[in-house]
Amino acid sequence: MSLRVERGELVSIIGPSGCGKSTFLRCLNLLEIPDGGQVRIEDVLVSRAGGERWTRADEKQAHLLRAHVGMVFQSFNLFPHYTVLQNAMLAPRVVRHVTSEAARETASQLLEKVGLGHMTDRYPQTLSGGQQQRAAIARALAMKPAVMLYDEPTSALDPEVSEEVLNVMRALDDDGMTQIVVTHDMRFARAASDRVLFVEGGVIVEAGPPEHIFSDPVDPRTRRFLRTIL
Ligand SMILES: Nc1ncnc2c1ncn2[C@@H]1O[C@H](COP(=O)(O)OP(=O)(O)OP(=O)(O)O)[C@@H](O)[C@H]1O
Ligand SMILES: [Mg+2]
Repeated sequence: MSLRVERGELVSIIGPSGCGKSTFLRCLNLLEIPDGGQVRIEDVLVSRAGGERWTRADEKQAHLLRAHVGMVFQSFNLFPHYTVLQNAMLAPRVVRHVTSEAARETASQLLEKVGLGHMTDRYPQTLSGGQQQRAAIARALAMKPAVMLYDEPTSALDPEVSEEVLNVMRALDDDGMTQIVVTHDMRFARAASDRVLFVEGGVIVEAGPPEHIFSDPVDPRTRRFLRTIL
């Protein structure tokens, strides 16, 4: 799978269960170490010819690369023993050694932005799924990533709550954030994406603007998938 994403693009990845969407996303963040291939984000390149040992130098590069990436999961993964504000302050404090005041300021602004300005002192388990997911987005943004990766961010949510989360992603797109979204929400993929990738069996079968993928797909595998799902 080979993909180049431009700054400010919103790319949706769709495809059947088990086709490799999550694995691909995890490789971009090096949560999964690919056997071979290259990942470049901003000025950081991680390159593997195939099968070599993962060295300490590689891990150092991976660390630099991950600093440019924010990741959001289906299951939110907020720290349960911290408030929403503390969740969004933690990584900048620990990883970037940002002062407490600066971290608080950034976290507050981001929580305001995702519509949680009035809930900063709440604990995750007292929030709805949609609120937790928006908090998770704010937490990821607090590290000022160059790209945001989402793995089925709304799959655990009711439709109307999903919309709150999707609206945050749309607003980030308007701000020029680069986003790659694995999703089963075809309506969102169609309406919000600059580009849609259809993946099957670990390869990108077809890629293009949403009008093309959804209205006029060329590959029979894309047609078949969309027929089943829509
Ligand atoms: N760590 C791993 N080691 C070996 N195989 C794996 C590993 N993780 C995933 N797989 C396999 O790789 C394939 C792709 O999995 P992946 O989770 O990327 O699919 P997916 O497209 O995200 O599916 P879904 O839509 O169900 O989330 C599957 O066959 C899965 O069983
Ligand atoms: Mg998956």
